[in-house]
Formats: sequence, structure tokens, C-alpha cells
Amino acid sequence: MTQLNQELPARARRKGRERAPSWRDALIEHQIEKWAEVREIGAQPRSHLSDKATYVLGDAIQWLAELPANSIHAVVTDPPYGVIEYDDKHHEKLKSGRGGVWRIPPSFDGAKRKPLPRFTVLTQEEISGLYNFFGALAYGLQRALVPGGHILIASNPLLSTLTFHAFQQAGLEKRGEVIRLVQTLRGGDRPKGAEEEFSDVSMMARSCWEPWGIFRKPMDGTAAENLRKWGTGGLRRISADEPFKDVIPCSPTRGREKEIAPHPSLKPQRFMRQVVRAALPLGIGIVYDPFAGSSSTLAAAEANGYLSIGTDRDAGYYALGREVFTPLSTLPLNER
Ligand SMILES: C[S@@+](CC[C@H](N)C(=O)[O-])C[C@H]1O[C@@H](n2cnc3c(N)ncnc32)[C@H](O)[C@@H]1O
Repeated sequence: MTQLNQELPARARRKGRERAPSWRDALIEHQIEKWAEVREIGAQPRSHLSDKATYVLGDAIQWLAELPANSIHAVVTDPPYGVIEYDDKHHEKLKSGRGGVWRIPPSFDGAKRKPLPRFTVLTQEEISGLYNFFGALAYGLQRALVPGGHILIASNPLLSTLTFHAFQQAGLEKRGEVIRLVQTLRGGDRPKGAEEEFSDVSMMARSCWEPWGIFRKPMDGTAAENLRKWGTGGLRRISADEPFKDVIPCSPTRGREKEIAPHPSLKPQRFMRQVVRAALPLGIGIVYDPFAGSSSTLAAAEANGYLSIGTDRDAGYYALGREVFTPLSTLPLNER
């Protein structure tokens, strides 16, 4: 019996003494059974990072196809937005500093800027590929989520309409967006090669925000019925007095956190812990990250005491995620 198996019935028993409604005990028991099943699905290599977290080395769409319907309770993820930026050809170019879809910026004022994917260079064919990829992902997630399960998915202002539409087409309800206020280095530049001639011109607005789509699988009955039966349907409040809000200021990942987990798309724990917490309204259930990278979602789930599972098809990032899961999940938020 794992520590989790002992812990959760004990918690349920404690709640029982406080005369908690029996639906809560049933949800917790169901969660224990599902967790034992879900973390062993598929033949892919995997690591049980803790009693509450598992990282699978494999393709997200393939792993989702093996998952029984109604298995997970929330999805929090940061997908490969150009899709192609993490394919072998472009990823090799990033690693060797040769660019491709990655814009390798020059050092500036002694500070080395982070490479960013140049989504403006996508061809029509790549855009169709992107739409198909997000369609397949959305259908897989829609099937795997329990009714009322939420998805919080990172995007960017250039591609969010396209990818969010694919999610709506799959039957997921759009429930708004979280705006992460963050000043990236995207946009704001003068015309290349003619900077002095057009010194008052920026080719694009300098980006100061990052959209995160909020989607929900349609509920099974009323909100209260769905919450009792599946533990999902809403978002967890910050406190009794404060609902979860859709604007979160959070600067780019820097310093110690970046040293711990040098993934090119690392999302900061300060932000991830807030959105992961909100994704399970009762704190009961399994959070899935299809594109787990450095395991930042799994680490944020662990910090919240939630169950989580992630997939990533890159063996290097899988190895990184295994190594940095504990330092990230225990990172004090003032240490940055
Ligand atoms: C934007 S990054 C996510 C990084 C993450 N936010 C973090 O903080 O580490 C996207 C990840 O998706 C992975 N990936 C790309 N295509 C995939 C697929 N089909 N299945 C699973 N993982 C995939 C890449 O290897 C990459 O690590």
C-alpha cells in the first residue's frame, strides 16, 4: 500500500468524523482507484517521481489514445506552439545556435537573450499542420477528461485564435482566458536593416501579456451535481473571500529557477502553482500535462498536494524533468 493509499482514506475518515457529505469520500476513493490505474497505462518508460506524480516518456496523442475515457480531472499545459519548433530538425538548430524557426537574438548590453520561436515564419502548410495537431489533442483531451474537467492551456497572441478554435471544434466550452502579464522580448523592433531610416516605427507591438485559454468539458447535470459526482465543473477559489481571477502578473522565469531547470520554455512556479491549484475546484483529482518538459506542472501540482501525470516525447527533457522535479516543487517562491 502506498503512502497515498493510507493517507487519503485517513483524510476521508477524518472528514467523516466532521460529518462531511459521503459524496466527498466517494470521490476520494474513486481518485485512489483511478490514480493506480492511470499512472500505469501504456508500455512507455516512466518514472514515479513521488507517490503523487508520474512522468511518462512518450508522445502525448498516442498516450491519450490508450487512456480510458473519463480518467483525468484537469489539464494544465504549455504546448509546442509552432509544433515544428520541437521537431527534430528545428530543435537541433536551437541546440546548435543556428536558428531555423528559433530566433537566436544577439547578446545585448552584456545580457544574453533567450531564443524565441518566430511564429510569423510559419507557412500555410505548417499552419494547417498546427490546426490538425491541436484538433487531435483537443479530441484526445475531451475524451480523457471527466465531465466538467478544465483545461488551462498556454498560448501566444499570434496563434491563440487558431488553436482555441480547434478546441471549441472538439466540443470543449471556452470559459475565458487567463492573462499572464509578462513582458517578453517579442515585438517592438524597428524594420530590420533600416532601423535609423524608420526610427519611429515598430514592426509589431511589444508583447506584454500571455494568453492562457480556459476550456471545460461539458458538465453532467447541474454544477452542484457535477461537483458531487466528478469533483469538477468549477475553479478553486483563492480563499473564501477571493475567487480565482483571470489576470495574473508574473515576470519571466529567471535566476535560480532557470538554473535548476534550463528548459527553453520553462514556466515559473509562481504562476504554475496558481493555475494548477485553480484547476481542481475541490482539490481532488488528477492533473495531466501532455507536454511536461521540465516537469514544471507536475512540480506545481506536488506543491499543491495534487496528483499529476505528464508526458513528453523528448528523452532529454524527460531526464531533466526527473532531475528537477523535487527542487522545483520545493522551491520557495521568494527565491528567484
Ligand atoms: C513549450 S514546451 C513545455 C515546457 C514546459 N512549460 C516547462 O516549463 O518545462 C513543450 C514540450 O512539448 C514536448 N513535445 C512536443 N511535441 C510533443 C508530443 N507530440 N508529445 C509529447 N511531448 C511533446 C517538447 O519536447 C517540449 O518539451
